[in-house]
Order: sequence, then C-alpha cells, then structure tokens
Amino acid sequence: MSENQREAALQYARKNKEKNLSALKEILTIPSVSTDPAHASDIRHAAEWMAAQLRALGMQKVQVFPTTRHPIVYGEWLGAGEAPTVLIYGHYDVQPADPLDLWNTAPFEPTVRGDSLFARGASDMKGQAVAAFKAVEALVKTGGLPVNVKWLLEGEEEIGSPNLEGFIADHKTLLACDFAFNPDSGMIGKEYPTITYALRGLAYFELRITGPEHDLHSGIYGGVVHNPAHALAELVAGMHDSKGRVALPGFYDKVRKLSKEEREELGRLPTGDEHYLEQTGVPALYGEAGFTANERAGVRPTLDVNGMISGFTGTGSKTIIPAWALAKISMRLVPDQDPKDVHQQFIRYLELHAPKDIRWEVNVMAGGPASISDRNNAGVRAMAQALESVWGTRPYFRREGGSIPVVAQMQRMLEVESVISGFGLPDDNVHAPNEKQSLATWYKGIEALIHFFLNLNP
Ligand code: BES
Ligand code: MN
Repeated sequence: MSENQREAALQYARKNKEKNLSALKEILTIPSVSTDPAHASDIRHAAEWMAAQLRALGMQKVQVFPTTRHPIVYGEWLGAGEAPTVLIYGHYDVQPADPLDLWNTAPFEPTVRGDSLFARGASDMKGQAVAAFKAVEALVKTGGLPVNVKWLLEGEEEIGSPNLEGFIADHKTLLACDFAFNPDSGMIGKEYPTITYALRGLAYFELRITGPEHDLHSGIYGGVVHNPAHALAELVAGMHDSKGRVALPGFYDKVRKLSKEEREELGRLPTGDEHYLEQTGVPALYGEAGFTANERAGVRPTLDVNGMISGFTGTGSKTIIPAWALAKISMRLVPDQDPKDVHQQFIRYLELHAPKDIRWEVNVMAGGPASISDRNNAGVRAMAQALESVWGTRPYFRREGGSIPVVAQMQRMLEVESVISGFGLPDDNVHAPNEKQSLATWYKGIEALIHFFLNLNP
C-alpha cells in the first residue's frame, strides 16, 4: 500500500510542478518583512495565506494566534493513529530587501531566470515552507498522510523569534510531538544533500555613541572634541585581537573544545577554503587563527558589525563632526555560551575601553542560544534515507553557522529534537540582493519530503 502511494505521490508532485511554483510565487509577492513596522499588515496577510494553505490541505484547528508583534499560525491533522506525530516548523517572515538598487528584478515580484526563482524569501524560507505544503498535499491527494502532523509557522524568525518562546511555553500540550521537522536550512551544494545537526546562537546589540549635542563645524571644533565616529571605530577595532579572536572579556570561557573526531569529520566536508573564496569573492579569507574556514563558520563563535552609521553620508561633502555614531553588532554563539553572559561581556568591554569623553548606550536586539541536535533518531534516519532516494548519495551532516532560535526553544521546553534539512544552496544570496531558489533542487526537495513522511511509517 505505502509503496503504491509512494509512486502515486511522486507522480502527483511531478504533474503539479507548475501549480506548485505558482503557489510559491503567490506568497513571495507579499513583503512580509518582520523587522519593519511599516510591513505589519503584509505580515498579517502572509499569516492568513499560510493559514489558508493549511485549511486547503485538510488541516484541523487552523488558527492564527496573535502575539504582541507578529502572529503564529497553527494547524494539525491527527488522523494517523499510532503513527508518529511530526511538528513541522516554518517562518513566513523575511529579511529586508534593501539595497533595492542591486536587485536585477524587484524583490517581491518573483521572477524565473534559468533554473532559479528570484525573490526575497525564495530560499529563506518561503520556498522551504511551500515545499513542505506541497509534499503533504501530494500525500493527502494520494491516499492520505502516513503520519500525524502539526504545523507551527511564525512571523518573527528573522528578528530572533521573541514571541515564540512564550507561545511554546503556553501551548506545550497543543505542540506535543515525537519530533520536529525544520526545513529552514540548506544544502552544502546542489549534489550534496545535507542534514544540519547544529546551529549557532545569536546575541545582537546596537551600540550608540554620542558626543556633542548636535553636529559641529569641523573647522571650528575639530581638534577639541572626540569625534563619535572615531570613538566607535576605535571600539569596534578593539573587538578582535591580532589573532582574529573576539576580545570581549570571558567570551571563550564556556566554549567547548573541538574534539579530534569532530575536527576530522568537519575536515571531510566538501567545503574547504576554496569553497568560501568562491562563494564570497574576497581576495583572501580572514578569521580566528588555528581553525579552518569550516570550523570558524560552524563551531567557533564570532563577532560581526552588521552596519554602521554616522555623520554625513549623502552626495557631495560636508565638513562636520557628527553628534553620534551607531553600530549594529552581533555575535554568533556556540554551545554552551549564554546570550545573557555575552551581553554582560559586551557591557564590560565598553566599561573597560570606552573613552570618558563620549557617552555610550547598548540596546539589546535579537538573541538565542546555540543548539546541537540528536543525529540518530527515527526522524533523522527517515530523512537520510529520503535524501539518498532522491540524490542517490548519503547526506552530509554539518554544523550550520546560521541561527534558528526555535530549535533550542523546542529542546528546552518541549523536550523534542528537530530534523533540520532544507533545499537552499550556498549561492542563494539569502539576506542579500537577488535571493534565489534553484527550482530543480526545489522539485527534488518536494520529492524528498514525500519519501521522508512515508519513511516514518513504513
Ligand atoms: N534560514 C536561516 C538560518 C540559516 C542560515 C540556516 C544559513 C542555514 C544557513 C534563518 O532564517 C536565519 O537567517 N536566521 C537568523 C536568525 C537570527 C535573526 C536570530 C540568522 O541566522 O541570522
Ligand atoms: Mn534568514
């Protein structure tokens, strides 16, 4: 029975490629940028779109739960009796699309060029969410789902999932499951199916330096006050030492030592230094001494300036000493670093190093701890087999440098593990102009997910 359904569901997905692509394009036209309050109604629209998809799939108890910011969408179908219950996670929000002038086609007008669909969110992660919808649809239409499913779709992932934690805590029974499936991650390469078993955490801050009460004439006052842009630059420069290590006091205290086995395993991934050079286009790589690029991006913590602003940045010239300077600074954390400790370390660094001739303040933005997931449960095995069925090769297991706060939240509050596997590629330009999703890979992904659900109830 299940083998017949496998063939029928795969055929269904193959026949409906165009329809599936249209559905993806539809959600990609909604600019659901979670960080920008101007897009609040788009976010609501996107949440309603997701809820409508769940209803169309025959899900029950479909509900859009408001939060203090962006809504959470829930739905379930529990008709598979004793079969496992999978909690499928997704986020329908996206990062801002700017700088807009660098997009070849408008970010919210999804456009196919070659094998790729270009749009903000195509890869991260509306594409992955719709792939899950379409795999479930193929099963629903060809005999029914082989497992019980619950859906948890949020609109705040790209701002650190601030309201998800409370929602999970308040709905533990509703969300009870055997494990979660999280497709918010990508593949190492087109021919390398990948299961992500660890994610870094995040601690994000805004550092504002203020000097004079207002901008000053740099001729009249140059040489008598500390320029806030200089002070900020000095502070930022001091955040790394000459070995590329983060110089916040105590930053490495809780960082686990990399085991020999893990080092060897990471060394076997097909992403050596050349991969990073090729993906980034920089003339040479940079980072903490004593670690490979793979290690630095996956198992070591880092600090980055995400943006800086100060003074006159318009066309032409203006001779001023700016009144203020601001940097957005985030740290990627590894197990067992605590974002709250890192906040204290950041403050301590500023107490120690900020000059007395300026004022500074720190605003806490997104944050969450890192996670390491179980690599050998029924869910992971079903996924590994599914990926192998479609790609003809066993998946790589890798540690991801990006962050997905819900994974640690579910471990802590629901005591469930996540199977993390999606179908984005390293050159998808996620969070950047011209984000795209490879369509060939996306269609394969839908087939892999059909296998995955069937493998869970053989
Ligand atoms: N899908 C990404 C996480 C990710 C990034 C997985 C790269 C695989 C490769 C997710 O949507 C994301 O970007 N998360 C944010 C979280 C942050 C705001 C807490 C991130 O990592 O910057
Ligand atoms: Mn993202």
